[in-house]
Amino acid sequence: MELLIKNGRIVDWSQDFYGDVYINDGVICEIGKNLNKNCKIIDAKGSTVLPSFIDLHVHFRDPGLTYKEDIESGSLAAAKGGYTMVNLMANTNPVCSNMDTVDYVLEKAKKIGVVDVHQVVSITNNFDGKDISHLDKLKPYVRVISEDGKDVMDSKVMIAAMVKAKESGRIVMCHCEEHSLTGIDTRMSENVMTWRNLALAQFTECKVHMSHVSTKESMEYIIEAKKKGVKVTCEVAPHHIALTDNDYRVNPPIRGKEDVEFLIKAIQDGWADAISTDHAPHSVEDKKNGSPGISGIETAFALCYTKLVKEGHITLNKLSEIMSKNTARIMGVEKGQIKIGYDGDLAIVDIDKEYEISHEAFVSKGKNTPFSGMKVYGDVIKTIKGGKVVFSKN
Ligand code: DOR
Ligand code: ZN
Repeated sequence: MELLIKNGRIVDWSQDFYGDVYINDGVICEIGKNLNKNCKIIDAKGSTVLPSFIDLHVHFRDPGLTYKEDIESGSLAAAKGGYTMVNLMANTNPVCSNMDTVDYVLEKAKKIGVVDVHQVVSITNNFDGKDISHLDKLKPYVRVISEDGKDVMDSKVMIAAMVKAKESGRIVMCHCEEHSLTGIDTRMSENVMTWRNLALAQFTECKVHMSHVSTKESMEYIIEAKKKGVKVTCEVAPHHIALTDNDYRVNPPIRGKEDVEFLIKAIQDGWADAISTDHAPHSVEDKKNGSPGISGIETAFALCYTKLVKEGHITLNKLSEIMSKNTARIMGVEKGQIKIGYDGDLAIVDIDKEYEISHEAFVSKGKNTPFSGMKVYGDVIKTIKGGKVVFSKN
């Protein structure tokens, strides 16, 4: 399949120019000006063409909790948000602890065919906090293990898991939370566990990725660890940048102004590798009963563009770097850059028009957002995966 995108403002981490992109057989084949091809053409005049986004932290709730989200509704929501690849967390029902569940998810996602999916496996079997024997049975295409939401409280178990992850070249993704402290102080609970997980990563030399870093201290520990050569990457969630002192229920909670300023500084200085949504769809009922989380994959780009780029903290190049280039690097895929030979995965966006976020317009089953009614810039018009349009506004 061929596709020619013409007359757009082409932006990725390293370039910003007006021109055309030609995709053939799923791959970017030519980039330039005044390209002419006898194939389907999209006129991107007045729009910005970015590499589509990759989300390292997503909950699609399939299997088992599909009343909140399923792979189809989640895939459509992701594409609407400009994403073409998602990394799905293991807190499904059953917990994703074996290849049967991994393959169920991957096959279903492939059949739907809207976004590429990577499925994470739990660090301990069924989140029991102890047994890691299932890690020996994983196929090589499982690249990430995580106990998201839970974390592993027993340091000896975490060390053993990190040793196995290192041996098999996998990344341990850490939701840093010391649960015995959460009821006392969520900030201390995050900080203590960030420090511990970094110490264990330094000891085992395992690659770790820190999820949704929300406090200044946690980011400081990560920066220190990076300076020492610990193999750590980290992500920041859009809601931890766009909100302060707000009690909308999400884990980790929304923090204060000083934290947000420090996270933004960490992005500017190149310490924060990625923006990930922690897309956590819930039903109205579950949310009323206190389930933490934000349905965030449809609003991530607009929030980040508005809060980070429009407000002058970073360039659009930098935003592309943390939403696409770095996230692709962490997942080990040839995406996230507008470069010959890379996957033809693009997001065409309107960055000039202001619009209002409405939860009613979400295609995700989860309408849980604190951002409904907020005015933002950065509207995704089309999402293209491998030269195929997987989302179009009109
Ligand atoms: O707010 C959250 N919701 N944080 C998590 O870590 C888990 C997530 C969920 O699964 O709902
Ligand atoms: Zn989490």
